[in-house]
Amino acid sequence: MRVKPRGPKQPRGSNKAVTTPKMAKTELSAEEIVKLLEGRETVDSYDLSQEFNKDHQQIIGAIKSLSSLGDVIVTEQRQFEQWVLTDEGSEVVRGGSHEARVYHAVDPQHGSLQADIMKSVPNAKIGFSKAMSGGWLSIDKKAEGGPRLHRKVKTIEDTVQALLMKIGKEEVASDQLKEFKKRKLINNDVIKCLIVRKGRDFTTQIAKQDVNLTPEMIQSGSWKDKSFKEYNFDALGVPPSTGHLHPLLKVRTEIRKIFLEMGFTEMPTNNFIESSFWNFDALFQPQQHPARDAHDTFFIKDPPSSRDFPTDYLERVKKTHESGGYGSIGYQYDWKLEEAQKNILRTHTTAVSARMLYKIGQQEKFTPVKYFSIDRVFRNETLDATHLAEFHQIEGVVADYNLTLGDLIGVLNAFFRKMGITQLRFKPAYNPYTEPSMEVFSYHEGLKKWVEVGNSGVFRPEMLLPMGLPEDVTVIAWGLSLERPTMIKYGISNIRELVGHKVNLEMVHNNPLCRLDA
Ligand code: PHE
Repeated sequence: MRVKPRGPKQPRGSNKAVTTPKMAKTELSAEEIVKLLEGRETVDSYDLSQEFNKDHQQIIGAIKSLSSLGDVIVTEQRQFEQWVLTDEGSEVVRGGSHEARVYHAVDPQHGSLQADIMKSVPNAKIGFSKAMSGGWLSIDKKAEGGPRLHRKVKTIEDTVQALLMKIGKEEVASDQLKEFKKRKLINNDVIKCLIVRKGRDFTTQIAKQDVNLTPEMIQSGSWKDKSFKEYNFDALGVPPSTGHLHPLLKVRTEIRKIFLEMGFTEMPTNNFIESSFWNFDALFQPQQHPARDAHDTFFIKDPPSSRDFPTDYLERVKKTHESGGYGSIGYQYDWKLEEAQKNILRTHTTAVSARMLYKIGQQEKFTPVKYFSIDRVFRNETLDATHLAEFHQIEGVVADYNLTLGDLIGVLNAFFRKMGITQLRFKPAYNPYTEPSMEVFSYHEGLKKWVEVGNSGVFRPEMLLPMGLPEDVTVIAWGLSLERPTMIKYGISNIRELVGHKVNLEMVHNNPLCRLDA
């Protein structure tokens, strides 16, 4: 087998080009490539890399950037096998073959101890055996002090080194190649290169393509005369070194732990889209309530409404809204199914609690439960430093026989104490679905004032009794946002630095562990 070395089609200046000052830089630019092509029929990426002693992949990159300009050039792939030196082969080219090194290490006059040579020359074992079989050395096994090597010839010719120097440049006989391959001095590589010809719009004047479309270009209209670099959707992005937990996730984990320690079970919150029925009607929130307006709630266009509601229960909800029952007179209005059917992005996780309580109401026998959830809710808010249109709610629900407001205050104290919040105050408030209702305030040492930390209440009988819960069962509940304690904990004053496209990933990367008891 003869390996055909792929030389350039033009006479090559061997490595001389490397020494000319113009070629001292490491790259061959796209401009330089078209200039070369101007005077030639074709240029070949691999041949160029050899001719100018440049990195082949860099040249391929420059050719590809020319291809992206349109018809300036046409390219064709070429592939061939090429013998290349291994690291060990390159080492031989630099410093001689192993056998030559062994030969030169032996003292020309007195010879040398074999043991010393084996220690001092790298790869001496193979070098020794080749030098012996080549007739360069003899061995005196009976010499004093151990076997001794002597030079058998005055000079040697290091053909291995000489032939390796030709690899990839000139022809080398196939039996030699086989031998070098066996000695792991060379490898057979597949080289993929590009043959470049002039295209229909060939030019040596290549305008640099723009990569960014700027507001100025749009304003002045200058974008019309510009040529833009195409997107390379296959480009690999910069790989992130590792993932980091966002502060909200860290605080969520801590709060989940608190609930679990207190014996609460997590509710399934995996539906952002909810019907108005479960989000509002089931919670005895009248249909004219301002929160049900498009100003406060996101309505879903497609599909706009839900259909499958438990029929009996729906009838009881309708009746309770219209005329009451269970000791109530209701709201005294015409309850409309269409209003309840409207799909929305849930505005609070209390919608999830309502579904869970309804389920419990369907059980043969009531058993007390403690539930919690932490998930996302959506409100059509005007965005500012502390409000976004979506945030996370933390919600706790306890259903048991004959719970009182004292139980609610007790569980709130226990819950907030675990979060490191000890001084609590309660202020009467209003929710359509709780009575009594209390806002929860805590004294903030940093801000030196009382800040609202949550909302709470005892669910109304108008909500619970239509669900089928026993009359002597009380359900106490509270809710708070996940963002508020996270911002306080991590010293973030603008919510847009915590959530959304303006979040600085460094902040996520650098923020410390969350400890709520600190
Ligand atoms: N759903 C209430 C809110 O969105 C919080 C709350 C939950 C209040 C449970 C009382 C009981 O603010």
